[in-house]
This record gives sequence, structure tokens and C-alpha cells, in this order.
Amino acid sequence: MKPYMASFLALLFVLIAGSAVFIMLEITGRTEDHGNKSGWITLHRILGYLYISLFAVMLVFMISKVAGLQEELSARTIFHIVMSLVLVPLILSKILIVRRHPALTSRLPIIGLTILALSFALTGITAGYYLLHKKDLTYTTLSAHDNDVLDLELGKAIMNRKCSKCHSLERVYRAFKSEKGWTGTINKMATMDTPNISTFDIKQVLHYLTTQQKNRQAHTGTNPFKLIGKSLVTRKCTVCHTLDRVFGARKTLSEWTATVNRMIATMDDESFLSKGEKTEIITYLSNKKKKK
Ligand code: HEC
Ligand code: HEC
Repeated sequence: MKPYMASFLALLFVLIAGSAVFIMLEITGRTEDHGNKSGWITLHRILGYLYISLFAVMLVFMISKVAGLQEELSARTIFHIVMSLVLVPLILSKILIVRRHPALTSRLPIIGLTILALSFALTGITAGYYLLHKKDLTYTTLSAHDNDVLDLELGKAIMNRKCSKCHSLERVYRAFKSEKGWTGTINKMATMDTPNISTFDIKQVLHYLTTQQKNRQAHTGTNPFKLIGKSLVTRKCTVCHTLDRVFGARKTLSEWTATVNRMIATMDDESFLSKGEKTEIITYLSNKKKKK
């Protein structure tokens, strides 16, 4: 669930609880008679059911989210979970009293107010926290301020742990990207896996991957983008014919674009070349000098 969606539900949640309690107080708390009592009671009951349904939905989301967390739970999260769980017996005892123990009806307002207070506090630490930290959830990039905290070993450890959850690490190591490219990819991965990959993690992994790639380039002594293009051509364009076919040809940019498009059509497999890979290959091939 997206954070703003969760915040919206949380606000709705506390609004429903507040209205239900307010109606109940209006009915039971006044000394003078109120006229249309049964109408208000019906409304109170409807709000009660709405509240319980919403609570059930949020509980399921919370549990599935906690189950997917790789981090140790933060104090805020534990507090949140405990408060949500405390709501369960409170709501159940309220229903029980209403249904089966009319003699205890006078206790209901206290239980209702407790439920409202807990809902309010819960909303405070979800919606409130989200609003306060909204800016942290935006696109993370590396800046000069980060140099003090960046650490290659740490970056590697974080990457090994967090980037192998959904696919192999080979998938990560195999990719060649500029810093901008990595920034985009890692932010995308972090969004897919919120809140597992924090802003701190993104920076560390970004730093590690770009440094590691630079070292590799320095080692091989080749222009990084030539290397990317070459490695892509070697891997992708040898599926159906040899490289002689590719390197024997001399073409302009638009001719290479046409050829590569034709090869993609021949391959007829969506995952064969991404848009970025296609651009790398075409750029590499059209800048390459022909062998004498
Ligand atoms: C929640 C699951 C998940 C996590 C965690 C995850 N990835 Fe991915 N990753 C995917 C999926 C799904 C794809 C394929 C979809 C795509 O290409 O956009 C993918 C594709 C990739 C690719 C190839 C596509 C590209 O854009 O080059 C790279 C590289 C990558 N991930 C790197 C990482 C890194 C680095 C991390 C750790 C910061 C990471 N992933 C964590 C799900 C995940
Ligand atoms: C699915 C199989 C397949 C893949 C993958 C493939 N090719 Fe081809 N390629 C062919 C076939 C078949 C021909 C001969 C027919 C033709 O020219 O369309 C060919 C011919 C060529 C030619 C000679 C014809 C011309 O237009 O000059 C070049 C150059 C070429 N391929 C480049 C590439 C490059 C670059 C890639 C990687 C992006 C690639 N091929 C990937 C099947 C493939």
C-alpha cells in the first residue's frame, strides 16, 4: 500500500471513530430528551461496522508488511503494532457488551473513548509520521554531503543483503550503468520494496556500485561506455550469428538503428533488449572505427 493511501485510510479511521463516539455521547450523555434517538443509534451502529471493516483491512496490510520486513523492527513500528493489537480485545468486548450484557451499558462510553484515543494515537504515528517524513520518500541522489557516511564495505554488505531478495546479485553485477542510471534503478528498486531499502541504504549501495564499476573500468583501461556497448554486443548479438557479421558491417547511426530494430523484430522477445541497451549498442556500433 502506498504511504499516502495508508495515511488517507488512517485519517478516515480516526474520523469514523470520532463521529461514532460523538454520536454516542450525544445520545447517552445528555439529561434532556433528544427526539430521534433510534436514528442516531442506527448511524452509530453503521459507523461501528465501518470502523471494524476498516480496522480489519489495515490489520491485514500491517501484518503482511511486517512479515516482509528484513530489518529488525524499529521502536515506532513495535509501538504501532502493540497499539493496533490492543484495539482487538477492546473492540471485541465492546461488541460483547452491546450484544449480551445490557447491564454493563454504562461502561460503553469509556471503552468507546479509549478506542478513539488509541485510533488517534495510531493515526498520529502513521499519517503524522508520513507527513513529517514525506520529503524522505522522494528521489534519493548522492551529494557531496554524504561523503562522511559513505563506506564501501557497508555498501557492499547492504547490497548483498537487500538486493538479493527478489533476484540474484548477478543481475546487479551484470548491469553497467552511469551514476545517473544507477540512481534511477536503485530508487526504483527501493520504491518496489518500501520501507526495506532506506534512503541511507540507497546512498550506500549507489556509492558502492558506482565505485566498484569505476574500479573495474580503470582496471580494464577502456572507455566505460565503449565497454558497455561492447559487452552488450558480445552477449546479445551472438545468439543467432557470429560477431563477424556485426563487426564486418559499417553503417551510419540511422542504418544501425534500422538493423538493430530488425534484429529485435527477428528475435521477437520483449526481454531481449531494453531501451537503454538498444541505445548503448547503436551508439557503440555507429562510433566504432572499422578494422583495417
Ligand atoms: C522488491 C523486489 C526487488 C528488490 C528488493 C530489488 N529488486 Fe532489482 N529488480 C526487481 C524486479 C521486479 C526487476 C525487473 C523489473 C525491471 O527491470 O524493472 C529488477 C531488476 C533489476 C535490475 C535490472 C534492470 C535494470 O534497470 O537495469 C537491476 C540492475 C536491479 N534490479 C538492481 C537492484 C539493486 C541494486 C537492488 C538493491 C538496492 C535491487 N535491485 C533490489 C525487483 C527487486
Ligand atoms: C534472433 C536472431 C538474431 C539476433 C539476436 C541478432 N541477429 Fe543479426 N541477423 C540475424 C539474421 C537472421 C540475419 C540475416 C538476415 C537479415 O539481414 O535480416 C542477421 C544479419 C545481421 C547483419 C547483416 C545484415 C545487415 O543489415 O548488415 C548485421 C550487421 C547484424 N545481423 C547485426 C546484429 C546485431 C548488432 C545484433 C544485436 C543487437 C544482432 N544482429 C542480433 C539474426 C539475428
